[in-house]
Amino acid sequence: MSSVISQNSQATIKFGQSLAQKFVGGEVLALVGDLGAGKTCLSRGVAKGLGIKRKINSPTFVIMKVYNLKNKKNIKKFCHIDAYRLTSAADLIAIGALDYLNRADTVTVMEWAEKVKGIWPKNTILVNIKHQTAQTRKISIKKLKRVS
Ligand SMILES: Nc1ncnc2c1ncn2[C@@H]1O[C@H](COP(=O)(O)OP(=O)(O)O)[C@@H](O)[C@H]1O
Ligand SMILES: [Mg+2]
Repeated sequence: MSSVISQNSQATIKFGQSLAQKFVGGEVLALVGDLGAGKTCLSRGVAKGLGIKRKINSPTFVIMKVYNLKNKKNIKKFCHIDAYRLTSAADLIAIGALDYLNRADTVTVMEWAEKVKGIWPKNTILVNIKHQTAQTRKISIKKLKRVS
């Protein structure tokens, strides 16, 4: 596990961006943190790192939003999930999320991921974001072990 302190929202965006620049496709980020921690902020960074120019908002009401990437060789889609209003993985499965979580050409980011733990794939990258002060956040990142 590694962790960094983000001093402001711009730094959180940069952090997400630098993560995404190393992605090859098939990555799933599980974002865990309170309201206002910076999950959407980090998701924006990931989208930016994938070359998405469109504005990214929390898909709280639509739950899942899929963006098509045109300029990446191996990554064709970015799937942004907001599980805030859900109670279990079954709710996500019902809207077809498994199609994206199991695709090698897709990067998925889940906000409020703890609500849908049952859907986390083995290669999930867990990202915890914690409020420190009004402007600072502790971002911890941990790759879950692959149980073969
Ligand atoms: N270091 C920081 N990282 C991320 N957001 C921050 C930081 N400092 C302040 N903020 C503010 O906190 C809020 C985070 O909002 P958002 O990303 O929508 O949170 P969440 O999706 O976790 O509910 C924004 O208003 C942002 O400007
Ligand atoms: Mg959010």
